[in-house]
Amino acid sequence: MHYREITPGDMPAIFEVRVKTWHNPHGAEELERMGITPDSVRGMLRETHRGWLAEANEEVVGFVMGNKQTGEMWVIAVLKDHENRGIGRSLMRLIEDWLVSEGCDELWLTTDPDENCRAVGFYRHLGWEDWKMESGDRFMRKRSDQVVADQQAARRDGKAP
Ligand SMILES: CC(C)(COP(=O)(O)OP(=O)(O)OC[C@H]1O[C@@H](n2cnc3c(N)ncnc32)[C@H](O)[C@@H]1OP(=O)(O)O)[C@@H](O)C(=O)NCCC(=O)NCCS
Repeated sequence: MHYREITPGDMPAIFEVRVKTWHNPHGAEELERMGITPDSVRGMLRETHRGWLAEANEEVVGFVMGNKQTGEMWVIAVLKDHENRGIGRSLMRLIEDWLVSEGCDELWLTTDPDENCRAVGFYRHLGWEDWKMESGDRFMRKRSDQVVADQQAARRDGKAP
């Protein structure tokens, strides 16, 4: 597995991963309705966001993006066939480390309100805590000192990149 930073040319590949992993048959249209288009995301990468992707045999199989201005872990997605192999954990480490290095004291994300959603258990397992329910979304957060403690534990266990 190869991890590298997302560049503007990666938009078609990351949109494909996002749509394939979203339990929404109209995902592509829905993203556009929300104003999330290749052009708008390229603009975000120029201003406030950065992201990383995971590639296997030159195929993009997962990616993550975050916003340094707000501390939001904005999106993460790993293709179904590649789940459960530690890719999501590695991507989360990349984005959490970057957000903390940018001075974000508290990281946050929104996810599914459904307790049984895989992502909710995944975030909890990685040390994220429930914050609030608002507008039908579950908000979770993680403090920067927890991120630093995770980095230290990963180094101690020989799991740090
Ligand atoms: C959520 C998602 C990113 C997880 O990616 P993944 O590559 O399968 O995750 P990993 O294999 O790296 O899992 C990391 C750890 O979390 C654990 N984990 C994963 N899901 C879990 C769950 N539901 N409950 C408890 N632990 C869980 C794994 O066992 C693993 O533990 P370990 O590293 O201590 O052994 C992926 O399933 C996905 O993209 N889902 C669809 C899109 C989505 O829901 N995105 C989030 C939108 S809010």
